[in-house]
Amino acid sequence: MNSDKIIISPSLLSCDFARLKDEIEAVEKAGADWLHVDVMDGHFVDNITIGAPIVAAIKKYSTVPLDVHLMISRPERYVESFVAAGSDILTFHIEADFNPGWVVDRILKAAQKHGREVQIGISLNPDTPAANLREVIDLLDMVLVMTVYPGFGGQQFIERAVDKIDDILALSNRVLVQVDGGITSENIHIPAIKGATSFVAGTAVFKTPDYAKAISDLRENARAAFGGGNVV
Ligand code: DX5
Ligand code: ZN
Repeated sequence: MNSDKIIISPSLLSCDFARLKDEIEAVEKAGADWLHVDVMDGHFVDNITIGAPIVAAIKKYSTVPLDVHLMISRPERYVESFVAAGSDILTFHIEADFNPGWVVDRILKAAQKHGREVQIGISLNPDTPAANLREVIDLLDMVLVMTVYPGFGGQQFIERAVDKIDDILALSNRVLVQVDGGITSENIHIPAIKGATSFVAGTAVFKTPDYAKAISDLRENARAAFGGGNVV
């Protein structure tokens, strides 16, 4: 899944949920490559957001891939419902289960059962080293590097968290690296220089008056960090 394309994935967590359908349409029209959906359970993180029925509702009105980020305990119990709801990229946290390979297996089986293609991601909290991925990295399409402690939108970018991108790409040259948390057009070059190609942004898109400008500023600044020529 390694990509030479910059992927901007606006996080719906910062949208106006009362106008969800309009927000989906607006952000897609503004150039969103993926839609990032933050699922929180009040246990793995101190916040509760949305579940599989809402993901299925979002799927009805979206035309770009749904990038579903599970911040939940015991993800193996729930991955099938999120596959069935229409997740195109399904990411869970390595800190949430002792058997990440088992969770991957469950996602693959659910994808087969529901006749869907699902890309699989694992997320690392800011203090979790890339080495924890060693046993499972070959099973993955994407690694999500958290640049805030998960749980809430609008937090401050943690720069030191991007250092591990070097280690991730040393373990695998085919995984796509995504970063999530506090990303703005002012700091997006920091993970981009390291080799991240997928960028989640909640506040930096939905809390601005012009989504198209916000997305194109993010994309341009990420692209420039690569030296201009290597990515599209
Ligand atoms: C944080 C979530 C993020 C969040 C990003 O736990 O995983 O996806 O919505 O929001 P910003 O871009 O505002 O940090
Ligand atoms: Zn997220």
